[in-house]
Amino acid sequence: MPEAGSGTAVRPGPGAQPASASGAPLAEAVLSVARRDIASFHALPLSHGGSIRNSKIRDVYEALFGQAQLASEVSYSGTMLDSFFRPRGPLRAAQQLAAASFGADSTTFLSAGTSTANRVALGALVPRGGRVLADRSCHQSVHFALGDMNATTEYAPMRRCCASCPRTFADLRRLLDMFALAVAEGVPYDTVVLSAVSYDGVRYDMPALLAALAELHPGVSVLVDEAWGAVHRFHPRLQPLTALEAVRGLRASDPGLPMTVAVTHSAHKSMSALRQGSYLHLMGDGEMQESIAQALFQHHTTSPSWPVLASLDLARLQAEAEGEALLDRSLNLARTLREEIRTDPRLSAYRTLGPDGHLGDPGLLVHDDPTRVLVDIGALGITAAEFRRILFDEYALYVARESGDAVVFHVHIGVDEGILLRLLDALRIVQRTYRATTEALAGDVAEHFIIAYPPGIPITVPGEKLSDRTRGELDALRTSGVEIYTLRQGRTAAVSPAGGATDTAAPVDTE
Ligand SMILES: Cc1ncc(COP(=O)(O)O)c(C=O)c1O
Repeated sequence: MPEAGSGTAVRPGPGAQPASASGAPLAEAVLSVARRDIASFHALPLSHGGSIRNSKIRDVYEALFGQAQLASEVSYSGTMLDSFFRPRGPLRAAQQLAAASFGADSTTFLSAGTSTANRVALGALVPRGGRVLADRSCHQSVHFALGDMNATTEYAPMRRCCASCPRTFADLRRLLDMFALAVAEGVPYDTVVLSAVSYDGVRYDMPALLAALAELHPGVSVLVDEAWGAVHRFHPRLQPLTALEAVRGLRASDPGLPMTVAVTHSAHKSMSALRQGSYLHLMGDGEMQESIAQALFQHHTTSPSWPVLASLDLARLQAEAEGEALLDRSLNLARTLREEIRTDPRLSAYRTLGPDGHLGDPGLLVHDDPTRVLVDIGALGITAAEFRRILFDEYALYVARESGDAVVFHVHIGVDEGILLRLLDALRIVQRTYRATTEALAGDVAEHFIIAYPPGIPITVPGEKLSDRTRGELDALRTSGVEIYTLRQGRTAAVSPAGGATDTAAPVDTE
């Protein structure tokens, strides 16, 4: 059974404007129960801060979550709010609005992420003892779910973008060949699983892929994991490659298309949804919708998070009204970042990979995601892991992923002009500090002062022989996070006769 529960009201202070969630029925319903002084005899003692009212942990809770979030942690089921598994009220209304917005036959909200959404979708799509053709680059949730289902799974192999770019994705030509061969041999796959939007910025050409699959075996079912691409629906430049748009196109020429397509979206990765808020969209008949409902019952927690579900409703409302403008900004900022890296000599140690030509071959059936900027930082002389650490510790900038010498900047709808300027500043300073040092260490004899602060005693002085030991010492200092300055011989005027820098705030580069 889903849980229900909760406590005493937190009301807006005097003069505060009550927030309105008009156009988002579920958010409105959660807001209205959060505002009421409801004492629960069920669960969630923390709701409205009930169990911590006189506790020493209360301040930390309030600092972390605020009173409003504690009030919205509610758990009422059935007609009190709605049933998660058999919604008839505001959850159903919100899901219907989302389905209309995404162009799906039905949409299910999950508060357990796309890891669970994929499992639910496969539970519904793959028949008992079914044959599955899976993209080798799928998320772990797909591999484990298929293993648990004892499905007969064959993988289409992965390929690498090119020698200078570490991105991998499915060899989609091979996938289609494998699919065609199985059809020709009379043992077609029941289900195909595709990971269509990668973190590294590779997007599959879903119209081409679904059309090819439908032509070979119209009754096939397909799970398209677009975990990273939920928001793509809301921009005319990004929408055409999406799976739901592809099915719309196929149905326009064949209204009776029997193909079933499930699409999973981690709304929390690209839209304004709380963590673990995911959509599971279905293009399929009523029977398949019932299978999804049953699989949800089997795999989803029975204690869904209503704040997370309400955030899915709000994320959809925002995307409809503001998504295109926000994505315009993201696309412009991503373009600016690439352009600055290409043209600014203070950023010459960085090299962008894609989207200018790396995935230009239409035969690959993949395209670049223009909201991702993949940057090779090899010329800095530090590892991508060190680079991420420096950005995080010293500039409060977080980059989630590195691959070889490359890091990925996801220019999502929360990134604005100010944040991009901060990033560009940080990139310039990092280049000035680290590349200069790397170059200064290149020869056998030091031509520079290399000085670490603290303590400010030169590690090399001009004319000194450079040994592996010195290089090792510098590597260790870099990893420990101290500041390292490189001063050219010609600029030693900036250094006092005692050897201490007179202007420590202005490191001098070697360019
Ligand atoms: C392609 C892909 N699918 C699914 C997931 C899982 O999504 P979630 O974090 O919403 O569970 C991820 C997570 O990063 C992913 O990259």
